[in-house]
Amino acid sequence: ASSKEDDQEKAIDELIASLPISKGLVRPVHSLYQNFWYPTPLLPNVIAFRRHFEAKDKDILLVSQPKSGTTWLKALVFSIVNRSRFDTSNTPLLTSNPHEVVPFIEHKLWPDLDGLAEPRLLATHIPYPALPESVQPSDCRIIYICRNPLDTVISSWHFLLERARPENQPEWSLEEHFEAFCQGEILFGPFWDHITGYWKESLERPRKVLFLKYEDLKEDIVGQLKKVAEFVGFPFTEEEEEGGVIEEIAKMCSLKTLKGLEVNKSGKLPHTITEKRSFFRKGEVGDWVNHLTPSMVDRLNSIMQEKFSPLGLRF
Ligand code: A3P
Repeated sequence: ASSKEDDQEKAIDELIASLPISKGLVRPVHSLYQNFWYPTPLLPNVIAFRRHFEAKDKDILLVSQPKSGTTWLKALVFSIVNRSRFDTSNTPLLTSNPHEVVPFIEHKLWPDLDGLAEPRLLATHIPYPALPESVQPSDCRIIYICRNPLDTVISSWHFLLERARPENQPEWSLEEHFEAFCQGEILFGPFWDHITGYWKESLERPRKVLFLKYEDLKEDIVGQLKKVAEFVGFPFTEEEEEGGVIEEIAKMCSLKTLKGLEVNKSGKLPHTITEKRSFFRKGEVGDWVNHLTPSMVDRLNSIMQEKFSPLGLRF
């Protein structure tokens, strides 16, 4: 590497070393960078992505907070966009986890973004204000999926318990996790700023940002898939609709199907400590009733009331 690159790397390391870090037990440690919490080991990738990524007009960015339905969205959009190449008999989803088929940019699993076929399907948890500058002027599309925070807090707690607890550490209790969640001190949090950043943009630029809710997908998958397909410029034809193509995609990407595939039952995602099976749990709306106390529910509801209601966002 040239000395200029070395200098840049050093500057990034120094910047990261100067950031506040999280107090909780959860690993990886996270750092507060421009008002959001990031997994510290991923920050160099996040910063490099911001600085160097050149969006193309046909790019499709899938964005979410962890545990909001990311895995599902990846499988669905991949299937929609590639349906002329693959059907349920030969889709890569049969042999690869959705996170391998559509990796996260911040995990840097792509050696060569420029070499990817168009439209490039890219995923990230990065909050709206931190997206690379080239995303704005380009015609690339953003699909954001969000989920009722009452369910996200439970889903993320289970995920961390299973995946990210360092050995020899006491269990990360729901109370601790809930507290961190409400303080905003969770990965890619605060959750309210993450959600409202994309929500506001979807209202202002509906052609740029499509805002989806996990709950709506559960309730009306066919209607939601039609909306997604139109948004990304691959609308279903009448023939396809009559031929049951939408239902086929929905079934292929269902929790039941994906969870049941050998490829998703064991093993870790490449370059991570994450078990592939940990992405597939219950997939229910309202599982929080089994875990949260009434005072926890009140607290989270009042945060949502304060942050979301003035913007017309409801769960
Ligand atoms: P639960 O923990 O509530 O079961 P993410 O994909 O963003 O990591 O979110 C994971 C959550 O989505 C988990 O929720 C998981 O069970 C659920 N999920 C994963 N795949 C799904 C699918 N194909 N359909 C519906 N929900 C799915």
